[in-house]
Amino acid sequence: MGPLVATRLIPNASPDSSTESTPSPLKLRPLWIGPVLVDPPILQAPMAGYTNFAYRQIVRELGGAGLLATEMVSARGFAWLADHEADHPDRLWGVADEPRPLAAQMWDNNPETLAAVGARLAHEFHVSVVDINFGCPVRDVVQKAQSGSYLLREPNRMGQIIERVVAACAPTPVTAKIRLGCSRDKINAIDIAQVVEDAGAAALTVHGRTAADMFRGSADWNLIAAIKPHLRQIPLIGNGDLDSPQKVVNAFRRYNVDGVMIARAALAKPWLFRQAAALLSGQPMPPAPSLSEERALLLRHFDLICERFGDYKGTQLMRKFACCYAQGRPGAREFRSRVGKTSVPHEFRHVVHEWFPRDLSLLTRSNNEPTRFGTE
Ligand SMILES: Cc1cc2nc3c(=O)[nH]c(=O)nc-3n(C[C@H](O)[C@H](O)[C@H](O)COP(=O)(O)O)c2cc1C
Repeated sequence: MGPLVATRLIPNASPDSSTESTPSPLKLRPLWIGPVLVDPPILQAPMAGYTNFAYRQIVRELGGAGLLATEMVSARGFAWLADHEADHPDRLWGVADEPRPLAAQMWDNNPETLAAVGARLAHEFHVSVVDINFGCPVRDVVQKAQSGSYLLREPNRMGQIIERVVAACAPTPVTAKIRLGCSRDKINAIDIAQVVEDAGAAALTVHGRTAADMFRGSADWNLIAAIKPHLRQIPLIGNGDLDSPQKVVNAFRRYNVDGVMIARAALAKPWLFRQAAALLSGQPMPPAPSLSEERALLLRHFDLICERFGDYKGTQLMRKFACCYAQGRPGAREFRSRVGKTSVPHEFRHVVHEWFPRDLSLLTRSNNEPTRFGTE
C-alpha cells in the first residue's frame, strides 16, 4: 500500500467556482491502489456490453483516465471455459496484451471460484487490479446467481470472498465495487466498507445508489462522503452521475473522495476524462471534438470492433455505440433510427457519413437548403 499522507488543500472553494472552466488546481492526495498509482485519479467504470477493448482503446487514445476497466466477467463462465479448454470469454478480448494499468472485474458468489479466476487474471493475464462486483442489480445476477448487489446483504460472505481473492491474487491488488445498500431502507455502505477494508481490499468504489434504485433518481454523494471517515487507509472512489468536467472537480472539492469513476457519460463523450483531468490540474480545458472529428472517432471505433467480431456481428454491436456518440445532438433521433437498421459495414458507414449529426450553423452557412435535422 502506498502512502496516503498528503493533505488535501482546497483553495478557497466557493460555490461559484463550480462553473469555472479553469479553476485553480486542487492539491489531491495521490491515488494508490496497492502498488498501482492511478494518475489522474479518474477511473473508467466497468460497463457490461460496452467497455470492451475497442472502447478502452478509444478512451486510452483520448487520454485522461488513470485506470481503465473491463466489463464484468462471469467467474463461473470463465472457469467453465477453462475446464473445457475453450477460448477465453469475449469479455477478456485484449486484456492479456493491452497497456497497463488495467483492472479486470469479475462476479460470482463463490469464494473458491472467484479466487481461482482472480488468480488467473492476476498471474496469467497480469492485470494491474482485480475488481469484484458487489453492485450489479440486474435480475439474472442478483436473483438467479445471488451475486453482485445480492451480496450486500451478506457482509460476512463478502468478507470471506475478498479474503480468499486477496490471498489468491497477491501481490496484485484486489478492489471492491459496491452500491450504498440493497434498498433505501437497508443502506449499509459504512459497515460494508469496513468489512471490505478488514478483508484486505486495496480500494473501495461506491456507486451512490442502492440496488433497488437501479438507475432512478440521483446518486447520493453525501452518503458516499459519509463513508470516508470509516476507512482507515484504503482509498474511496466515488461514482454516479458525473457527466461534466465541472462535476468531477466538484466531487473532489466537496466529497473528500480519493478518486472518481465515470461510466455512462463517457460512452457519449469518451473525451470527458481528458477534459476532467485538465480541469482538475488547473489546465485550460481541451475543447470537445468537432462533430466531424467525432464522426472520425466513431468510425475508428467501428474498425476496431469489426477487426474482432467480423463485419456482421461488428455492425450489430457498434449500433449501440453509435447511438451513444450521437446522444443529445441535433438530429440524433433520425440517426438512431437509421443506424439501428444497418447490418453490414458499408450501410453503417453510409449512415454515419450521411446522418451523423452535423454542426447546423456550418451547414446553414455553407448551403441554404433547409436541413433535415430535427432537434432532440
Ligand atoms: C450499460 C451498463 C453496464 C454496466 N455494467 C457494469 C459492470 O459490468 N460492472 C459494474 O461494476 N458496474 C456496471 N455498471 C454500473 C457502472 O459502472 C456505474 O456504476 C453506474 O453506471 C453509475 O455511474 P454513472 O452515473 O457514471 O453511469 C453498468 C452500467 C451501465 C449503464
